[in-house]
Amino acid sequence: MRGVFVTGTGTEVGKTVVAAAIARTLAADGESVAVFKPAVTGLNDLPPADGPKKGAGVDFSAHRPDHEILRTAAGSNQPDEEIAPYRYGPPASPHLAAAMADEEIDPRRLLAGARAAAARADAIVCEGVGGLLVPLVGDYLVRDLTADLGLPIVVAASPGLGTINHTLLTLEAARGAGLAVEYVVLTPWPAAPTAIEKSNRETIAALGKVRVETLPPLDLADPRSWPRLPASLRRD
Ligand SMILES: Nc1ncnc2c1ncn2[C@@H]1O[C@H](COP(=O)(O)OP(=O)(O)OP(=O)(O)O)[C@@H](O)[C@H]1O
Ligand SMILES: [Mg+2]
Repeated sequence: MRGVFVTGTGTEVGKTVVAAAIARTLAADGESVAVFKPAVTGLNDLPPADGPKKGAGVDFSAHRPDHEILRTAAGSNQPDEEIAPYRYGPPASPHLAAAMADEEIDPRRLLAGARAAAARADAIVCEGVGGLLVPLVGDYLVRDLTADLGLPIVVAASPGLGTINHTLLTLEAARGAGLAVEYVVLTPWPAAPTAIEKSNRETIAALGKVRVETLPPLDLADPRSWPRLPASLRRD
């Protein structure tokens, strides 16, 4: 399987934006790109699909479900079920959201789904759920799925205070499980970063022994305007 698994230091740290930018970079190079997210939760919190996309200075595209944003960025025509096999309304951890729906997430279904999607494309870009140690079912964590898929990871993280600890913890958890780390992305990276933000970038690179990229604030409604993110994905 050729691709990347975008994880993050936690929830709401920019995983979707980073995964979308990588998918867009590959698609712009003429590659067919599949996207995948093991589970999407919190669908109840989103505005209805036929609601306004833009208005009153608010960009509603940021409030579309992750699988829709990923599909658009990749230029993919995959159905919802293929991108995100498990989709739930409550904004809960996937293991809990599944239990609330009287279901259990089946890792074999996730692995088969991701492999099938990857087989139909040149590359696959996966987005995790929360951070690496989020449970999918029982003691099977997002990190286990990442390892079973055999994909290298990209870590989305915030630029500001607290990010050194969160990012180094994530790198340690990843490497401890044998995951290959491609790079960290600090997002959204301001046009005029503060001394703290610049220092965070250097400290994460030095102490984490990792490449650190940055992503400026994007117009999420216009993928053509996005900068490229490295997508030199290894082949098995
Ligand atoms: N470079 C960026 N440009 C514009 N918005 C950004 C950028 N990075 C992060 N954001 C914003 O930060 C918020 C969180 O980003 P995102 O949805 O990608 O996080 P996530 O880690 O995928 O969250 P979740 O855990 O819910 O999947 C969103 O509102 C997103 O639009
Ligand atoms: Mg997301």
